[in-house]
Amino acid sequence: DSIPVLTIDGPSGAGKGTVSRIVASRLGWHYLDSGALYRAVGVAASWANLDISDPAALVRCTFDTRVSFSDAEHGLRVLVNDVDATDELRLETTGAVASAIAAFPEVRSALKERQRAFRQPPGLVADGRDMGTVIFPDAPFKVFLTASAEERAKRRYKQLKDKGVSVTLDGLLREILARDARDAQRTVAPLRPAEDAVLIDTTGLDIEQVVERVLALVNP
Ligand code: C5P
Repeated sequence: DSIPVLTIDGPSGAGKGTVSRIVASRLGWHYLDSGALYRAVGVAASWANLDISDPAALVRCTFDTRVSFSDAEHGLRVLVNDVDATDELRLETTGAVASAIAAFPEVRSALKERQRAFRQPPGLVADGRDMGTVIFPDAPFKVFLTASAEERAKRRYKQLKDKGVSVTLDGLLREILARDARDAQRTVAPLRPAEDAVLIDTTGLDIEQVVERVLALVNP
């Protein structure tokens, strides 16, 4: 495939979403938020009261769930079965459900082609856990973003506090460590950098510094 892809993988809270969106917009490339697809399936499954430990039901739900991304006035909105689910998708509880269903290989493969369809000219920035390892192994540009768990908990704390959500730093840190462990230890597509990925530790860097480092890979 000659359409370029920049994959940005890493644990939650490393800044992937913010960095990927800015980089995509500067390059004029499309953007895939693959976590939003897992979150959308999780939300649709809970709306339908499905048993989220039943992979067959989840696969049906994956194929039945329409997900569309729209660039509305107030930032990127995500519609699940034509309902604006943007706020619900961001909840920590939704992240936990997404992480649980993402552990089923059946669910992962049901989402594979859907993710690859985002590869459209002039290029794609793909944000997730296995973009460089599984979904776009032939991507010419691969980044693995990390940050210490403490730094990621602090960033998430600030984001949530700014939104008026009441959380504790300690609770967030525990959730982040638990989710990291689940994502890294699962047998299918565990979170790990692709062999040819460039590692960027964002601890102590601001967003612009990270964006510049990533852009320098694409346009040296
Ligand atoms: O990135 P985000 O926090 O939105 O992802 C939610 C969950 O979906 C992650 O914790 C992870 O378990 C799962 N996920 C995944 N593979 C991806 C993207 C997300 O397994 N490519």
